Amino acid sequence: MTRRFLFSACLALFFHAALPAQSCKLDIDLGKKGSPINPTQYGIFFEDINFAADGGLYAELVKNRSFEFPSNPLQGWRVFGNAAVLEDGPFDRNPHYVRLSDPGHPHRWTGLENEGFFGIGVRCGEEYRFSVWARVPEGGESRLNVEISDPASIEEDHGLCDGELVVSGADWRQYELILKPSRTLDKAVLRVFLDGDRLVTDIEHVSLFPVDIWKGHRNGLRKDLAQALADLHPGIFRFPGGCIVEGTEVESRYNWKNSVGPVENRPLNSNRWQYCFPYRLYPDYYQSYGLGYFEFFLLSEEIGAEPLPILSCGLACQFQNGEDAHIPVDELGPYIQDALDLIEFANGPVTSTWGKVRAEMGHPEPFNLKYIGIGNEQWGTLYTERLAPFVKAIRKAYPDIKIVGSSGPGSEGEQFDFLWPEMRRIGVDLVDEHFYRPYEWFLSQGARYDNYDRKGPKVFAGEYACHARGAKWNHAYAALLEAAFMTGIERNADVVQMATYAPLFAHVEGWQWRPDLIWFDNLRSFRTASWQVQSLYGRFKGRNTLSLKMSGANVTGAEGQGGLFASAVSDGSRIYIKVANTSEEERDLDFNFAGLKKKDVVRAVEGVRLDCSDRMAENCLDEPDRIVPVSFAFSGEGKTISASLPPLSFSVFVLEK
Ligand code: AHR
Repeated sequence: MTRRFLFSACLALFFHAALPAQSCKLDIDLGKKGSPINPTQYGIFFEDINFAADGGLYAELVKNRSFEFPSNPLQGWRVFGNAAVLEDGPFDRNPHYVRLSDPGHPHRWTGLENEGFFGIGVRCGEEYRFSVWARVPEGGESRLNVEISDPASIEEDHGLCDGELVVSGADWRQYELILKPSRTLDKAVLRVFLDGDRLVTDIEHVSLFPVDIWKGHRNGLRKDLAQALADLHPGIFRFPGGCIVEGTEVESRYNWKNSVGPVENRPLNSNRWQYCFPYRLYPDYYQSYGLGYFEFFLLSEEIGAEPLPILSCGLACQFQNGEDAHIPVDELGPYIQDALDLIEFANGPVTSTWGKVRAEMGHPEPFNLKYIGIGNEQWGTLYTERLAPFVKAIRKAYPDIKIVGSSGPGSEGEQFDFLWPEMRRIGVDLVDEHFYRPYEWFLSQGARYDNYDRKGPKVFAGEYACHARGAKWNHAYAALLEAAFMTGIERNADVVQMATYAPLFAHVEGWQWRPDLIWFDNLRSFRTASWQVQSLYGRFKGRNTLSLKMSGANVTGAEGQGGLFASAVSDGSRIYIKVANTSEEERDLDFNFAGLKKKDVVRAVEGVRLDCSDRMAENCLDEPDRIVPVSFAFSGEGKTISASLPPLSFSVFVLEK
């Protein structure tokens, strides 16, 4: 048991001991609607960290498909026979390609083998679409053999399936074929080799996607991972980060303009998570931008979430740089223009410059963008003096767009205290708060938003997660404390209009940061206990808050409240009461409903509960459903309904009038 854990346990015991033995009375006022709840309240945060995009949500199975990795254009590839990299290819922003030539002897072979992202995951009998841009520079017809193979197999034949492509003529063209593996394998490779008469053949943008993909898009997303997002019923989708918005230096910031248009010509970008932690280096981690802004907007639409892009404000990552690494304030023009152009890309008519790009990509209708964030985790006057001209320009051109500013990297402290008044002064609509904090912080923050200024900008809790060093990651107790904290978000829906857990995804072999909401390998994925909490909030969303009190006070885990945190909402027909019991004791509850007409009663409909009593229990690839919500018997009718809460549990009580 760690010291931190012991401290939290003592803190919890102190609070719990202070509760009288009789049942807790929770008074819910149904006579008065509370604040409206913005549909954006619970959402998701996406960043390409932990191989979340390439090698993750983006379903491309070939790594370095355009031969552009800067330290070695053949990184991720094994080469055999007579192959050379050239750089006057058909795509000016990704100019490299490979020339395959006769190896000089009939018993030699020329070809390439791609290792994928920690291998290539394929399923028996499913279809995979191989595609390649190719030409025969001297003219004529050449043959390529394409194979998905198991290099570790002791069988006669490495191949799980293969096919032949005929490449004809000296002009670059795209070719494709469908492959169907005879076995399921998580670490296959892709082999392409010169066959037939072995005429010199050039290949570029070598790609392999599952055919069975999210919504059937060609440049699409891995189905299980996209489904895990849709199942959260998110109201807001923040992308593309996180620190990658900023870049290690400004040049490597996420440049949205490079992430749209034909996928073959989106230039590669580095990824700071390649080298951010020297104890977890990933030398082959780049951003192909195959999952770019068009795909982000489309996904938002498909999962019913409002898109929230976050853009660079001209500051490189402030953790990694001194004061002179940034764009001077009087040179911000192109960066501000990027923000304005993005709004045009999302919402402009097809006749506008950027609206036309969107339409050409297959979406003539606008994406109806309503929010934009300027800067990620920025701080100090370096930030405020850059943010101000962005806000001015966006307000002038697009007065209806809501702007999100930052309160820095901390949940409180000097920068936070400086930035909040500055955000008011500059006049942003929402302020992004980040908190990756320990148990005791979450236990003590149930009332965090109860006294926030109701007149100022609203809160976007844009990155948060309960971190417990020394304990297991993504364990049940951390999820319970997140659930407890979220009752305070729910109760203060007028202030906290958006909240997104972070980070979202992690490849089990490629993570840099944990905990994360969803983990995966090349074929499987699992949803963590924290995901289950988020999904309960997404599923039992209200339209209005309801007042819920214990002895006249909000239920925030305060002294004398027995480790309980609670909130209540109504969606018009149903009432959802969420209660986290963070104590080791069972708690008896009486829900007392006030504000009812004399003849009216409330009926219990159902109860759903997440049992976190095995504090360190986690879901994992082999046991994905260890911590999942279960229904429990919840019945009764009247003006008072009783229930009991097991220790260390999070419950949602569904009722109707
Ligand atoms: O979520 C991981 C990182 O945490 C984000 O990139 C950054 O915004 C924060 O520091």
